[in-house]
Amino acid sequence: MPAKDLFGQAFLDFQEGKKYPSQIERDDGYVDEHMIGQYFDGHDRFPEIEKKALRHAKGRVLDIGVGAGRHSLYLQRNGLDVVGIDISDSALEVCRRRGVKKLRKMSACDLKFEKGSFDSAIAFCNNFGLCGSIKGVEGMMKRLHRIISDDGVFLAESIHPTDTKKRAHVRYHRMNIARGKPPGQVKLRIKYRGKTSGWFDLLMVTPEEMREICDRTGWKISRTYKGKPAIVYVLKKA
Ligand SMILES: C[S@@+](CC[C@H](N)C(=O)[O-])C[C@H]1O[C@@H](n2cnc3c(N)ncnc32)[C@H](O)[C@@H]1O
Repeated sequence: MPAKDLFGQAFLDFQEGKKYPSQIERDDGYVDEHMIGQYFDGHDRFPEIEKKALRHAKGRVLDIGVGAGRHSLYLQRNGLDVVGIDISDSALEVCRRRGVKKLRKMSACDLKFEKGSFDSAIAFCNNFGLCGSIKGVEGMMKRLHRIISDDGVFLAESIHPTDTKKRAHVRYHRMNIARGKPPGQVKLRIKYRGKTSGWFDLLMVTPEEMREICDRTGWKISRTYKGKPAIVYVLKKA
């Protein structure tokens, strides 16, 4: 049986000083090391593109897929009113222990807040694509449009999937296109301490796909911060 909540387990272990290796496997067999420590980094170690984008955050902030709380803690310390959401009980527990004040167990794909509840939302570290498909992400964007104030901002991070020459990735993108999927829709699972999670889909979008998604959901790209291979998009209501 696939193991549940390995992300959360890894966060809890790390918080308790237990450091084990973790891998992410793609469904073509490609495996990457997964560095859990990065999710506990302080602001000085955030990627430059996230640091720059975070300057746009204001007021009441929704942190989508809060993880171990690194961005929430930074914003909270700077006086912003942050709510972190996650589907992992263990991730939420780690956030609680680390001092994130407002937390809710909720999926990015089923946002349940009142209209105009937030002035900003953040989805860092590829969390823009948590809902796994163009349709899923567009559903999230439409709900966000409702719950973010009219002059609000959504800071959304995604790896630019086709900005690579790595042969395994290029092959995977071609395979996706051949089966009618966006190039950056990846099927992944996590391996940790001898256990393996179930498969889940994550969507990484090209800038063109981001523009199309925005057009269809009432958003516009106000500016971008380009890293390699990740991009943070500053999105505003159209
Ligand atoms: C890669 S971590 C990123 C955490 C954090 N944003 C950061 O950059 O440190 C992804 C987090 O998203 C959570 N997650 C996965 N699917 C989710 C969903 N559908 N809704 C909300 N959170 C989700 C995971 O439990 C995990 O804590």
